[in-house]
Amino acid sequence: MSGSVSGVASVNLGDLTEEIARIERDVESNSRAASDIDALRTLESKALGKEGALGALLVTIKSYPPQQRGPVGRALNEAKVRIQGVIDGRRKELRAAHDDAESQRAADFDPTLPGRLEPMGALHPVTAVQWEIERIFERLGFTVETGPELETEHNNFEALNIPSTHPARDMQDTFWIKNGMVLRTHTSPVQYRSMRKFGAPLRVIVPGRCFRYETIDASHENTFHQVEGLMIDHDISIPNLIAMAKTLLNEVMKREVEVRVRPGYFPFVEPGIEIDMNCEICGGAGCATCKQSGWIEILPAGMVHPNVLKAGGIDTAEFTGFAFGLGLTRLAMMKYGIRDIRVLNSGDLRPLVSPRRLSGPVIAPHSGDSASAHD
Ligand code: DAH
Repeated sequence: MSGSVSGVASVNLGDLTEEIARIERDVESNSRAASDIDALRTLESKALGKEGALGALLVTIKSYPPQQRGPVGRALNEAKVRIQGVIDGRRKELRAAHDDAESQRAADFDPTLPGRLEPMGALHPVTAVQWEIERIFERLGFTVETGPELETEHNNFEALNIPSTHPARDMQDTFWIKNGMVLRTHTSPVQYRSMRKFGAPLRVIVPGRCFRYETIDASHENTFHQVEGLMIDHDISIPNLIAMAKTLLNEVMKREVEVRVRPGYFPFVEPGIEIDMNCEICGGAGCATCKQSGWIEILPAGMVHPNVLKAGGIDTAEFTGFAFGLGLTRLAMMKYGIRDIRVLNSGDLRPLVSPRRLSGPVIAPHSGDSASAHD
């Protein structure tokens, strides 16, 4: 647009018109690109604000000769209206899209769905180690068995080659029920139950809670956990047992555990051994926990006594077996550096979930049905 405007000669608006057209093109493409209302607001003030592109041109009106100011002002005002129209149009589009998304989200939200379950808390140290042991032995072809905490005297003692006159009974004084049953003193009665139930060959582990008549102190409890192990097959011998014990201890402790094997006496094994591990608390140097010896009795074991195999209905001419009675509570204390056994059964959860002492993995669904083995 050039030449005479409103009858005033030689008003040349060419440059201005071009500049206005450029600003409008910019606004158009930028408003199309604006993805939300905020971006559009910025664009609006950049174009139309006092300091904006069009605003800067408005300021220049004064510099035109008086007869040109009218047409310049008109051209700028018309441009302002068009630009405002473009921006308002885009604002409407963005609002509509936003409302659509909102109503879609509202439609997608199903208030009847259950909440999302966040993992929380931590496993009890004994449970954490028990689950770990179950996984190790399941991999080695063992099944996880359970037995009752209230046992017959026969299963807890006689079936394990401990007749009523045997001095070994003194070491396992326990709580007797009036009907003659006992709170089991060890998980060993499930050896008998499993042999009766499955016969040979056999590979089972039995995690479980045991009870003894004990004076409670930092290392003695009347209620504690063991994991019994029993493997019966052809040609089973002590080296199999020691290999199994090392695998177990190394995997739970996540290090190469040093073990010491000593003879030990238990009526239900012959020969009987004690497998000790070097003390985790002092690293073997000697401390109160290991009674200054550097070693922790962790895994009493042996070759199953023929009388026990016979009681379980196993043919002793064909099969031999090893058994062990892991001190699960003790191993958990070692693994997590818990020095006082009383912490484990107390109602005070703080020392059990202390962030300074990892007390176990975050609760996660346990695969397999061995979860039923948790006492
Ligand atoms: N039942 C024994 C106890 O609680 C531990 C034990 C020792 C279990 C030797 C075994 C074994 O299976 O072979 O003292």
